[in-house]
Amino acid sequence: MSAGKKEFSRLPGCVSPINYSVWLKPCFKTFTFAGKVDVCVKVNEPTDTIIVNSAEIKPGSAEFCANDVTFSPAAISVQEKEETMAMKFDKPLPLGNAVLKISFEGILNDKMKGFYRNQYEVDGVKKFGAVTQFEATDARRCFPCWDEPALKATFDVTLAVPKELCALSNMNIIHEEEYKEDSNWKLIKYATTPIMSTYLLAIVIGEFDYIENHSNNGIPVRVYTAKGKSFRGEFALDVAVKCLHYYEDYFKIPYPLPKMDLVAIADFCAGAMENWGLITYRETALLIDAANSSAHARQWVALVVCHELAHQWFGNLVTMEWWTHLWLNEGFATFMEYLATDHCLPDYNIWTQFVAHDFKRALDLDAIDNSHPIEVPVHHPDEIDEIFDAISYQKGASIIRMLYNWIGDEGFRKGMHDYLTKHSYQNAATEDLWQALGEASGKPVNKVMESWTKEMGFPVIGVSSSCQTEGALTLKLTQRKFCARQNSTTASGKKVWSIPLIVATPKSPHSEAQRFLMDKETEEIVLDGVSKGSWIKMNSQCCGFYRAQYSKEMLEALQRAVETNSLMDLDRLNLVNDLFALASSGVSSTVDFLRSLTSFKNETSYAVWNDLDCNIGELSILLWDSPEVLSKFKSYVISLYEGIAKKLGWDAKPDDGHAGAMLRSMVIRRIGKFGHKDTIAEAKKRYQDHMSGKASLSADLRSPVYQIVLANAEGDELDDLIKFHNSADLHEEKERIERSLGSVSRTDDLDKVLKFAMSDNVRSNDKVFVIGSVGCGSAVGRDIAWRFVKSNWDELHDMYKGTFLISRLVRMTTENFTTAEQAEDVEVFFNEHPPAAAERTVRQSLDSIRKNVEWWGRDRKEISEWFCKQ
Ligand code: BES
Ligand code: ZN
Repeated sequence: MSAGKKEFSRLPGCVSPINYSVWLKPCFKTFTFAGKVDVCVKVNEPTDTIIVNSAEIKPGSAEFCANDVTFSPAAISVQEKEETMAMKFDKPLPLGNAVLKISFEGILNDKMKGFYRNQYEVDGVKKFGAVTQFEATDARRCFPCWDEPALKATFDVTLAVPKELCALSNMNIIHEEEYKEDSNWKLIKYATTPIMSTYLLAIVIGEFDYIENHSNNGIPVRVYTAKGKSFRGEFALDVAVKCLHYYEDYFKIPYPLPKMDLVAIADFCAGAMENWGLITYRETALLIDAANSSAHARQWVALVVCHELAHQWFGNLVTMEWWTHLWLNEGFATFMEYLATDHCLPDYNIWTQFVAHDFKRALDLDAIDNSHPIEVPVHHPDEIDEIFDAISYQKGASIIRMLYNWIGDEGFRKGMHDYLTKHSYQNAATEDLWQALGEASGKPVNKVMESWTKEMGFPVIGVSSSCQTEGALTLKLTQRKFCARQNSTTASGKKVWSIPLIVATPKSPHSEAQRFLMDKETEEIVLDGVSKGSWIKMNSQCCGFYRAQYSKEMLEALQRAVETNSLMDLDRLNLVNDLFALASSGVSSTVDFLRSLTSFKNETSYAVWNDLDCNIGELSILLWDSPEVLSKFKSYVISLYEGIAKKLGWDAKPDDGHAGAMLRSMVIRRIGKFGHKDTIAEAKKRYQDHMSGKASLSADLRSPVYQIVLANAEGDELDDLIKFHNSADLHEEKERIERSLGSVSRTDDLDKVLKFAMSDNVRSNDKVFVIGSVGCGSAVGRDIAWRFVKSNWDELHDMYKGTFLISRLVRMTTENFTTAEQAEDVEVFFNEHPPAAAERTVRQSLDSIRKNVEWWGRDRKEISEWFCKQ
């Protein structure tokens, strides 16, 4: 954090907003907009100055009217760095209610934040609309306002737009008339919003079609898509209607707005945004095409829809007091998105994906020195943008899941209802939630949860057992902080977590597992009904946010249990995930981990394979710079995957289910990219048939096939696929191709991909992922992508600064290095070019590289020797 950022302060409390009447008129020729805002305010304390947030806005006139007296400011000044505008009056303003009127002009920018332009196509013709994205701190780019979550107000929006365009806002339209100054334009007035935070206000202007259904309460739910594409909204609409009902029933609080719109936006930075009553989405997070969408895409749409709908209560109705509590919004919505998806689409078995993806990602990030506590002091907008990360989302959701499993569904539901009711239309902090859940469940929620939110990191529990009496076994437990690197700077210091433990044994599997609360550094617990030598699984179903390190005998018993298929899938996953983390951090040996992989030869669960596959991916990156070992590793992996590959085959089977389709895609991708000859040949053949129109390739197989073909390209495959990309009209297809391109192996092809990334054929919200695919594709790609980022830094930084895309770019092009020199190079570069909103990401990438350096330094000899013997 630079010194300047620390000084960033919150707005003074002497004047606060009650209602905003916002009037806006965008111009699609000059990419500017004219605006007026009349704010009913209350002057709470004597002052002669009103300070509001404002950024890239040119103020025109301003006046302050109280009791029929109009005050004009003596001076209006703009503080660019502070993102504020100050109106200074000659004398102190009268206390009480008044109206502040400001006219202004703003920029319809191309940065996907504030009020920005959105480019779309109708019948091949490029057109522009306008969209807002205000979270976290960009409402101030659209109109001068008190842009802090706790300064809630109501909003009356009026828009002047060309007659042929559709214009949406949070509320329903209450009045529409011809715009007096131009008969080709119309003036639209929307109903007053409920009292809410500025970051939730939204406007969407453009050409759309929609489909509609109704919630159980009769509220119209619509999905808006590009013209002629509304059929692609059916899946999301169906999920949205079911999910809305589920939440109304779960929270026992009706959805309070008169309508719910979900809109697909072509130029969109994040995945989706929960604006109250007008949720905006990237096209790939909302649209499903029956013939061309993968199982993975469906799952993503379901999760995102359920996530944003959860925010309608948790975030919109009750809002965090300040961004320090952002995790409350995001962690909670991430947890709820799985709960609701599980309800709407039970056959997805979605909780296993939570563990395989979110839980794993959170443990990985939180184990490094440059992680941060869930609750973190933030001031400057850049610091706020930076905490939309895996700690707020995935760790947040993981500890809520731990709490949910500890207090039970009934206490959780009741606590949620009480919390949402008590703080409706207001703001709350983390403690308020703990209090409600504690009261509802009768458990010491605050005491237990504080240890997870106030400090970063999590424990690893050392476990050994002894058997004194037949049928009862004593477990000796010791907790310490888990660190991804042995010489971590955060290992020391006595830190004790309060850990809800769920322990499964053969006699008491998960549903009857024994439960304890461990809140000391060492503890002994007695398990009933366990015979000597039987397996004992800590952290049953991965409900706790910790890792386990078993004694040798206990580990062997568990490995036997894996081979005899006695453990549930999440427990198998957890076991191997912990083993890998312990190996990569230097606590145990990598070769032991590699050896243990053979016990998974008969594995059939997608979640478990997914975890194994991630570990294999990470290990292969470590070996990127050692081609001989890498090639042996690849053969070893192929032999491990051969059984499952044969079992699955290439063609979909009736009993595949949701996960089966994803497993096939994952297995084919891995062995194909690792050089399995038959798989490469088959991929090439199917690719030819697909491109020539002879036989369409199933959507689930396209991404692996594109990647395998590109990795083995000998001719014009890259050019052909780029052409195919440019003519595709489904955004999912474009994205699939874009994210596959980094698989090419020839240097001139890699350069071509980077050039393509910067071309007009790739939207700016997607460019980062094309560059990232090069950075994550191979050792050569990694080096080329990093060089590219360095030499195009000014342009890239200018394009993405102040959005989360900058940290994605930094991470994907730096974290896969493996030498100390490379770490030095990255560090020196970013010292000279500090990336706005990605400073912590740089430090995290450096942690990652240094971890690789130490890991390889430590295990290189053993790993190389082991592979030579294979
Ligand atoms: N509130 C966020 C959108 C957001 C993200 C705004 C970053 C500002 C900065 C929204 O609820 C969200 O979390 N979206 C996720 C998708 C979700 C399913 C995890 C996203 O955009 O990735
Ligand atoms: Zn969210």
